[in-house]
Amino acid sequence: MKTESWNIEGKSAASAVGVLKAVCKRIPDAAVVLGSGVNVLMDLHDPVALPFEEVFGIAPTIAGHAGSMVIGRLKEDKDSPLVAVLRGRFHLYEGHDWPVVTLPARVLIEWGVPKLFLTNAAGGLNKTFHVGDLMVLTGYRDFLNPKLKETGLVPALMSETENCANDLTASLLEIGKKLTAADKSFVPMQQGTYAACLGPSYETMAEIEMLRRLQADAVGMSTVPELLTTAGTHTQSAAISVVTNVWKEDEPMGGHEEVLEASKQASLRLDKLFHAILTAL
Ligand code: HPA
Repeated sequence: MKTESWNIEGKSAASAVGVLKAVCKRIPDAAVVLGSGVNVLMDLHDPVALPFEEVFGIAPTIAGHAGSMVIGRLKEDKDSPLVAVLRGRFHLYEGHDWPVVTLPARVLIEWGVPKLFLTNAAGGLNKTFHVGDLMVLTGYRDFLNPKLKETGLVPALMSETENCANDLTASLLEIGKKLTAADKSFVPMQQGTYAACLGPSYETMAEIEMLRRLQADAVGMSTVPELLTTAGTHTQSAAISVVTNVWKEDEPMGGHEEVLEASKQASLRLDKLFHAILTAL
């Protein structure tokens, strides 16, 4: 089990856990990290909102990432699951290094949160995908920065990686199937391999072609650091991509605004999925 703390700009994982324990007496049953424009679980009961800066000592800089942790119960009932929703994350493309990018995941591990759901906005590579699809990650390709993993800078990243197709992933797929069976407006979810690239610019058509040949189904700029950090710990994680664009030859790509709009539509379905899986925990 990994419990190391790093001093990061004066804020180690341990000091962030101290902040959280002071405001929240109960350890959350699950945490959810929201990617660009993904808005779910807005209706938690008795929510406490903590700006990232207060918890982690750092604020995110990207549009669509509010940068706050909202902790609340799923339902009115006092025994209902307690959920920590992280509205935003830190990215390598913002200029943060691995210790900062992995800080929220390390804090959740150290706090003892047993389940972590990661969401992201991603580009569709699989030609059968549509804008607004939800893709459950059953595998990933890490193109972020493998060199740093060899320097010993971030011991958490030296651990064995774990296939992200775990029990939690299986539960997401299972619940998705049930929701589709019960409600025809719940578009069947996709599943596949996520390629994590550094960004911040989107991929060239030549890179898209390469990623397709490597059989990646979606491409984004996040999530893999958190999957690597939680691998082998008591915090089990599963991840979902919101497909905000599907790469096609000779078609212009949408800008950040369109990405946010597509995320909004898919968020409605994602919200149902999270309510269902968190209720079933
Ligand atoms: N590439 C990388 N990141 C993304 C994309 C994409 O096409 N769409 C949304 N996030």
